[in-house]
Amino acid sequence: MQTVKLVSGHEMPVLGLGTWDLRGAGCKQAVREALGLGYTHIDTAWMYKNHREIGDALQEAGADRAGLFITSKVWNTHLHYDGVLEQAEETLRDLRTGYVDLFLIHWPNEATPLAETFRGLRRVLGEGKARSIGVSNFSVSLLEEAERVAQAPISVNQIKYHPGAEQRDVLRWCQDHGVSVTAYSPLGKGRALQDSALTGIARRHGKTPAQVALRWLVQKGMVVIPKASSKAHLEENMDVFGWALGPEEMAQIDAVEG
Ligand SMILES: NC(=O)c1ccc[n+]([C@@H]2O[C@H](COP(=O)([O-])OP(=O)(O)OC[C@H]3O[C@@H](n4cnc5c(N)ncnc54)[C@H](OP(=O)(O)O)[C@@H]3O)[C@@H](O)[C@H]2O)c1
Repeated sequence: MQTVKLVSGHEMPVLGLGTWDLRGAGCKQAVREALGLGYTHIDTAWMYKNHREIGDALQEAGADRAGLFITSKVWNTHLHYDGVLEQAEETLRDLRTGYVDLFLIHWPNEATPLAETFRGLRRVLGEGKARSIGVSNFSVSLLEEAERVAQAPISVNQIKYHPGAEQRDVLRWCQDHGVSVTAYSPLGKGRALQDSALTGIARRHGKTPAQVALRWLVQKGMVVIPKASSKAHLEENMDVFGWALGPEEMAQIDAVEG
């Protein structure tokens, strides 16, 4: 699996499984299926309420922890120092792992000073409970503030990014400052796939619109975490390496309107 090197020094697989809205037996099944197909990167969050199922799936699959990359996130009601520590502990307990690879601030909340949240994250990092830390849904101005107060490398900003929904200013800022970008909802929750530019390009390459959308994001330098629950979708979403979109095709997708 292709990886990106984070500013923390750790490698992050460019493709991961998104797990928002995967719960209970369906979640366990999708994660087992994904691991069987060769996924090594799983994106979850305290707020998704599926850490236990993911932990079960990892145990049952006998997955080699060292070969996995697990991201989780602290919810924005818990951005005070103790809240960060509390959710980190719960996360590790429920996932049944000693550490997460990446722990993110899920959503900003101006009620808590960012410096305090980062104090908590630095402790989690210092205790080896997270290998890298970062943010999600951060604008350029919040990123600038985070950079001022973090006192630790900000490895990732996870943001919504798909054809028809770009955040070019945030992407540019991150790329200029060494912050890797993970594109969430990379398929626009499946709704971005009907566009005629995507379907036309897909036909030409013998690929699907979902693969074209993911490839476009990967070629822009982003990590992608499509959520899928069927084996067919999981398999399809892995085929985004070893082929490329041309500059005109990239521009055509850039022009897609949301
Ligand atoms: N940080 C944040 O605030 C935040 C916010 C939202 C999401 N996320 C993360 O990003 C992940 C992905 O985003 P998302 O779940 O919002 O949406 P998404 O990945 O853009 O789309 C998921 C939808 O697309 C369908 N799909 C998957 N593969 C497909 C394919 N090859 N062809 C056609 N349809 C396909 C899925 O159907 P099936 O399930 O039927 O396969 C599902 O309905 C989340 O699961 C979560 O981990 C983070």
